[in-house]
Amino acid sequence: MVIRRVNPRMVKEEVEILTFTADNRDAAKAIYPKLVALIKEFNKDQLMYFRKAFKVDTDDWSPTENWFVTGLDNGFYLIPMVGGRPAGMLNGEFSNDGGVKYLDINTVFVLPQYQRRGIGRTMFLQAKEMGKAEGREIIFLTVYANNPNAVKFYESVGLRPARINMVGNI
Ligand SMILES: CC(C)(COP(=O)(O)OP(=O)(O)OC[C@H]1O[C@@H](n2cnc3c(N)ncnc32)[C@H](O)[C@@H]1OP(=O)(O)O)[C@@H](O)C(=O)NCCC(=O)NCCS
Repeated sequence: MVIRRVNPRMVKEEVEILTFTADNRDAAKAIYPKLVALIKEFNKDQLMYFRKAFKVDTDDWSPTENWFVTGLDNGFYLIPMVGGRPAGMLNGEFSNDGGVKYLDINTVFVLPQYQRRGIGRTMFLQAKEMGKAEGREIIFLTVYANNPNAVKFYESVGLRPARINMVGNI
């Protein structure tokens, strides 16, 4: 398991970023129960943007261990731990779309109390390195247009808008 330490000047408490891949599936399963509340919080947050952007009402969705572990088949999770507790999550996936090899980022989340301390950036840069090691040249993700803080975060780590999803209600 790769463990990284965020520069302690950036965060008051010690932060370790745990890396989970298909090579340490059992460790991922072991940490999953500690992540459920965090994933639910992320989903609740994203659901709010989704409802407003798509103008639909939809139910919350509860994560399952099976769903979580499937994320390891072609990808990885980075989990920042503060004081032994998960403070966020990044899920990356190595995809191959029409011959182009992407690093897809599916989830980036830092608990509100730990935001703006460099944890998101540290996870993102580590994900980029892992993508490079897997021969990826392009990093791809989707963000809600009505989530400007996330857009600013992605721009701060060097991403640019490339495609706009258009939605309408029928
Ligand atoms: C987006 C998110 C992951 C950023 O994580 P973070 O650990 O707070 O980000 P960092 O501290 O590494 O910020 C890096 C840079 O991004 C930019 N940034 C991050 N959050 C920002 C905000 N709320 N407003 C403006 N800029 C922001 C800044 O340039 C920041 O650098 P600075 O603090 O030196 O100014 C976090 O805010 C989050 O979990 N948001 C809710 C979930 C979400 O919307 N995720 C994206 C889903 S697509």
